[in-house]
Amino acid sequence: MKMICFNWKMNGNKKLINEYSKLSLPSGVRCIMFPPSVYLSYLNSCIDAGWLIGAQACHASNSGAFTGSVSATMLADLNVQYVLVGHSERRDIEGNDFLRSSIESAESSGLQPILCVGEALSERQFVDEVLEKQLSILSSCKSGEIIVAYEPRWAIGTGLTPEVNELRDVFLKIRSLILKFTTRQPDKILLLYGGSLSNSNFDKLLSTDGIDGALVGGAGLNIDNVREMTKC
Ligand code: PGA
Repeated sequence: MKMICFNWKMNGNKKLINEYSKLSLPSGVRCIMFPPSVYLSYLNSCIDAGWLIGAQACHASNSGAFTGSVSATMLADLNVQYVLVGHSERRDIEGNDFLRSSIESAESSGLQPILCVGEALSERQFVDEVLEKQLSILSSCKSGEIIVAYEPRWAIGTGLTPEVNELRDVFLKIRSLILKFTTRQPDKILLLYGGSLSNSNFDKLLSTDGIDGALVGGAGLNIDNVREMTKC
């Protein structure tokens, strides 16, 4: 396990940040919290050195008349190091061109993008085509590392997860598609799994061949789960 991400979505509060801050973290594993962006200033004032900071999204432009949006340069100003791009809860309103520009904007501000990909239930028989289209935006990626989170839409927040053998095959496919679109060395490609991770399936799913880490949603809102998952 190289990386564990906790995506709070539109949840959490200062109390949860305080609870996260007090956890002792394993060495050699990148533990990243993704709180709502309104909490980033508070987080900066109390965060323990072990945690890395991520944002849930950034706009494709660095500034401008985009009411309610947050740019990568603003996030970098608040010590954010990682940003999710293309989470399925936003992908439909953003689209591939916007996401490609968000990656460029993140990279030019010094943030590491984490591209989220995954098929809807109705797309399961075309999963290869869906992933190929979603991953194609990596062709202009300049970061030293490519980080991709595979989150099948039908697994997010539903309690459903893929079988271990399905996951292994999808991760092999994703790795070969990344190598089609980029020229990174294999050790510079990190693949995460996300979708209904819980204490009861975490070890099993995360020990699948080819998986480097986790993107946890709902389970990360309970500090006991976070403590358990970061024990690794
Ligand atoms: P979930 O969400 O763990 O609640 O399914 C994962 C995600 O959307 O990143």
